[in-house]
Amino acid sequence: MPKFQRHTVLSVIVLAGLAISPIAISHYNDKEAPQSYRQSWFALIAANFGPMVSMVKGEIPWQEMQMAGYADQLAALTTLDIMRGFADGSDKGTTRAKPEIWQNMPDFQNKMEDFKNAVNALKIIADQGTDRKAIATQVAATGKACKACHDEYKSKNYLY
Ligand code: HEC
Repeated sequence: MPKFQRHTVLSVIVLAGLAISPIAISHYNDKEAPQSYRQSWFALIAANFGPMVSMVKGEIPWQEMQMAGYADQLAALTTLDIMRGFADGSDKGTTRAKPEIWQNMPDFQNKMEDFKNAVNALKIIADQGTDRKAIATQVAATGKACKACHDEYKSKNYLY
């Protein structure tokens, strides 16, 4: 492939990536495996939760099957062992996870449990499909569980 063409193809791929993913960088760094593991998990969480919020807000058309599908995938993600990503010693490196997580581990775990419970309730309601008000209420409750944890344990910028 001529050089200029290769560049065009590359920039189209890069632009497409930016368009579907407002989340800055996803990466896997094998020297920081737990950090990469948790960041990848949160990226997948956001990729499923984001469109649900957009449907509730009316930014994209509400489609019941899709709503239920995202809720199912969110619930499936909560079956993974996310605490593996918060292993001892992983409070350093390329991360926005505040050191308070490791100082208040039981509280952090409670917030994670609250989040999982919210997601599982959301899956049950979304799978029924019809009660949009109930779905919207539970999407909001789930968003609150994200925020409750981020407010205390996620910094806005990289820490190190
Ligand atoms: C129990 C705590 C907790 C809950 C619940 C939680 N988060 Fe997070 N989230 C974090 C922490 C801590 C980080 C920072 C991870 C790091 O940088 O190592 C993070 C990072 C992220 C990131 C950035 C991932 C990246 O690419 O580095 C996104 C996006 C995100 N969370 C979205 C969400 C959404 C959406 C929800 C709810 C649907 C949610 N989170 C629920 C604690 C939480």
